[in-house]
Amino acid sequence: MSVITNIEDLRVLAQRRVPRMFYDYADSGSWTESTYRANNADFAEMKFRQRVAVNMENRTLATTMLGQPVSMPVALAPTGLTGMQHADGEILAAKAAEKFGVPFTLSTMSICSIEDVAANTTKPFWFQVYVMKDRDFINRLIDRAKAANCSALVLTLDLQILGQRHKDLKNGLSAPPKLTIANILNMMSKPRWCLGMMNTCRRSFGNIVGHASSVSDMSSLASWTAQQFDLSLSWKDVEWIKQRWGGKLILKGIMDEEDARLAVESGADALIVSNHGGRQLDGAPSSIRALPAIVDAVGDKIEVQMDGGIRTGQDIIKAIALGAKGVYIGRPFLYGLGAMGEAGVAKCLDILRNELDLTMAFCGLTDIKKVDRKILLPGSY
Ligand code: GLV
Repeated sequence: MSVITNIEDLRVLAQRRVPRMFYDYADSGSWTESTYRANNADFAEMKFRQRVAVNMENRTLATTMLGQPVSMPVALAPTGLTGMQHADGEILAAKAAEKFGVPFTLSTMSICSIEDVAANTTKPFWFQVYVMKDRDFINRLIDRAKAANCSALVLTLDLQILGQRHKDLKNGLSAPPKLTIANILNMMSKPRWCLGMMNTCRRSFGNIVGHASSVSDMSSLASWTAQQFDLSLSWKDVEWIKQRWGGKLILKGIMDEEDARLAVESGADALIVSNHGGRQLDGAPSSIRALPAIVDAVGDKIEVQMDGGIRTGQDIIKAIALGAKGVYIGRPFLYGLGAMGEAGVAKCLDILRNELDLTMAFCGLTDIKKVDRKILLPGSY
């Protein structure tokens, strides 16, 4: 590829460079993928009001997320198996985010461990947890996140069971990959990826293997989830996690106004309007469609953030206009990582920043903190 100018270029390059099983894992939605597609398509339905002859000098995208200064209102989402898109992927993505001045969120299902990411970065990152049956393990994870100086905890509420992603079953997704003939042939066509993996010892779930007791089958994500995740999760657990953690808590996976009110009652500091990138409840609305009602219901009581479908800076500013205080990107940074490692994540952030900055100017504004619904054409959202 000659010149990379947009996120789609990074996606195409990642698809070429990352073994099929891991590229597909990142890129899939559940079942018919209707929610996955809607997440992005619904952004395209929204239109801007173009303004002219407004002074565009001295523009700024700097703001805060959860009270923390950010160079633009974008965080890296917690994504599973990031270290399988590229060797040492979580460390590389965290470094790129740190240099750029945006938060990086480490997933429990990461390849590099909390301690490993902390040892290789200088600023605090955010950490994501699920509620699993083994409460001692969760307690220890929270303590490890505290010891690593993580500055926020993201609790995922929409993944006690796993939405079926057809390709993962067909590909036999596992980490490290099973050495079947089909996998070996596929990996041989990805020499950069193989070289990276040969030069790292980080090839399995760093937060879990050796830390959780009774982990008998880590190889299959689906069976591990079925075995470990707690189906009885309730708002009481949210309170327990909040108490144990004692710091800033973000609840991820809120799509309903009623749940948003319960999130406020739980005392959490922020919520993420999220359908898990269209990977869980296929048929749920897009996140951007769910956002306005939730902002209207609770936006004055809790920080509302969102994820799902962001591929451009135009998408980011639309979410901010509808009341999100910040957005998370998952697939865009994974494409960058799979395409070019740390430089690819930096490229992804750079592309989004430039698109966001110019779009804000075209809408007649110079400060991201001043963006509101007035930049959108009435009736288009
Ligand atoms: C994990 O959170 C996944 O979506 O696979």
